[in-house]
Amino acid sequence: MRNQYQRETKRKKLNERRKKMMRRRREEEEEEEEEITVKWAKHYSSIHQILIVGDGDFSFSLSLAYAFGSAFNIVATSKDSYVSVLKKYKRAKSNLQCLKELGATILHGVDATKMKYHTELRMQKFDRIVFNFPHAGFKGKEDNMRVMKYVVVAFSLAYY
Ligand SMILES: C[S@@+](CC[C@H](N)C(=O)[O-])C[C@H]1O[C@@H](n2cnc3c(N)ncnc32)[C@H](O)[C@@H]1O
Repeated sequence: MRNQYQRETKRKKLNERRKKMMRRRREEEEEEEEEITVKWAKHYSSIHQILIVGDGDFSFSLSLAYAFGSAFNIVATSKDSYVSVLKKYKRAKSNLQCLKELGATILHGVDATKMKYHTELRMQKFDRIVFNFPHAGFKGKEDNMRVMKYVVVAFSLAYY
């Protein structure tokens, strides 16, 4: 009778241990799956190295970062200095702060037409380089197509 009780207790303990091991393994598998989940936002994914140039108030960079849940794969840049960005756009300060917290690299004073000379950028490779709504600024007439075309063409050639 005592032997039977001992055998029963041992069997229960073994069962408990087996269940625990299976639970742990399932949790580990779930963690692994989570680690390799790739998030997409249109043409961009969380495993792309993404360079954004000529960002205005950095809201585009931030929206990508939110879509991915982090910004370690994002280098967000502006042609303007930090001070002028803050002067021009009222949301820039908080956008930049959020981007930093999500792990983005932020660079100011980056000219899209001269990126291959930039000390930090010339050594890096990117899967996507984005320049949304390129605009040459307000020197002369706003619709100065010659200057705008120059910026776009020079930007396209900037990495060759
Ligand atoms: C119309 S705004 C668009 C801003 C932002 N890309 C967006 O989509 O909201 C044009 C931007 O192009 C930038 N820009 C103009 N010439 C540039 C250049 N050579 N290199 C980098 N940015 C430039 C300006 O500083 C400005 O932020």
